[in-house]
Amino acid sequence: MAQKLAAGNWKMNGTEASLAEIDAMIAAFPAPGCKVLICPPATLLERLSRRAGNGPIATGSQDCHMKASGAHTGDISAEMIKDAGGSYAIVGHSERRTDHGETDAIVCAKAEAALAGGLIAVVCIGETEAQRDAGETLDLIGTQLAGSIPEGVTGDTLVVAYEPVWAIGTGRIPTIEQITEVHDFIRTRLIERFGAEVGAAVSLLYGGSVKPSNATEIFAVENVDGALVGGASLKASDFGAIIDALQKA
Ligand code: PGA
Repeated sequence: MAQKLAAGNWKMNGTEASLAEIDAMIAAFPAPGCKVLICPPATLLERLSRRAGNGPIATGSQDCHMKASGAHTGDISAEMIKDAGGSYAIVGHSERRTDHGETDAIVCAKAEAALAGGLIAVVCIGETEAQRDAGETLDLIGTQLAGSIPEGVTGDTLVVAYEPVWAIGTGRIPTIEQITEVHDFIRTRLIERFGAEVGAAVSLLYGGSVKPSNATEIFAVENVDGALVGGASLKASDFGAIIDALQKA
């Protein structure tokens, strides 16, 4: 059985003042019925990790360089993420694929580096609106899965986030049938490649405009084990409502 996971991606948002949100979340969910993860900007990772302590909220980064160290200005490595208290690394988010030209091969190398550094990799995949309109969604998802996930993963080291690019930050979400179709497809592909046990144990997150108002119906989908939440993870009240929907699902 895959673990339920509510993951927040703060993107390029947050300063010292935002740490109050984490305090509110910890106060509201001293023992949540699902795993909770916050990936703040790198500048806040250590502060947020200290705040979260050994409590129920895990922390992670929004990216992870493929190399362990070296001359890579502005980047952070798995070792640094761990050192700052993080235990997860998001890799292959569509904003990184678009803004930084990250290919499946690069994402795969980053996921590999995250795993080698003892982190859990949250590998993001998802189609653009043009690809969906052209009927290419499942082909593309298959290609991204095959190309972005390294060998040797397990349910304890890999999370997959399906995030349709056109649903991110737009307030639009796919239909429940569309989410079901893609998540079933991902589960099948993982089972084919990694075997029934590992394939069933990998948490599959849906991401893209998840809000308190749509979380319950999304979490009712069989192969949706949680969400990767952008905008709505910035406020403890909104993210709290999403955590609550997941623990009840
Ligand atoms: P959103 O972002 O919830 O603001 O749509 C999701 C994401 O990009 O992970």
